[in-house]
Amino acid sequence: MSIHTEKLAKKVTLSTIAKMKGVEPITMVTAYDALFAKLFDGQVDMILVGDSLNMSFLGKEDTLSATIDQMIYHTQAVCNGASLPLIVLDMPFGSYTTEADAVKNATRAYQETNAQAVKIEGGKERANIVKALSQNSIAVLGHIGLMPQFLRSDGGYKIRGKDKTDIASLVADAKALEEAGAFAIVVEGVKSEAAKAITDAITIPTIGIGAGLDCDGQVLVWSDMFGFFEAFKPKFVKQYMNGAELVRENLENYITEVKNKTFPSDEFTY
Ligand code: KIV
Repeated sequence: MSIHTEKLAKKVTLSTIAKMKGVEPITMVTAYDALFAKLFDGQVDMILVGDSLNMSFLGKEDTLSATIDQMIYHTQAVCNGASLPLIVLDMPFGSYTTEADAVKNATRAYQETNAQAVKIEGGKERANIVKALSQNSIAVLGHIGLMPQFLRSDGGYKIRGKDKTDIASLVADAKALEEAGAFAIVVEGVKSEAAKAITDAITIPTIGIGAGLDCDGQVLVWSDMFGFFEAFKPKFVKQYMNGAELVRENLENYITEVKNKTFPSDEFTY
């Protein structure tokens, strides 16, 4: 029996995820509400309540204006919908600038939701924050490579790991986060050779997004993978269905039926 089959009946824990490295690929998707979390419950290993909700759910241009209150609100909804996957709350920009802020805000996340971990963006420069959280019994998912919260300072979304120097720097980031106590690391928007070098260099799992096949798992934003987010589509996004098209077609059916008075028919009338 694979770890996946065993786990479907049980709550996924940090130790389940640790054991999956090199044994079985880890699946993670984002969710922002109870409705979709319920659909993913018992299917995926992990759910990320990502600050990507600021773009796909709230229609903002980037993730930077998401707040800890919003993240807590959406994580509560996700925890109401899903009980089995390991649920991670994404700490928004500005909520973990200092160790004290990080501990204060992540403690709120633990007290006000059932999330089992928080995610923060940053490499070696954020190792002290990861350490402070770990020492306060808060599990941390790291996030390196292309980091959307660094959009303005980096001057755009930039693919990383294109040369030996940058690969070495990413590997050093991953090692620093592991050393500081992170239980896994999201590796976003890096060349696949870099993702492999990172994955091989650490003993905790890597979860890739736009990082190729060599990570220990994969994460996708649900509204990207199911074709609901139409503002742009990065190369790494595979659309498993065209959700927006499906909704539009069926909305049109509804409008037509209301306009020509065929809905509600007897079947839908008391
Ligand atoms: O906010 C988010 O959804 C994320 C994923 C892209 C990993 O950070």
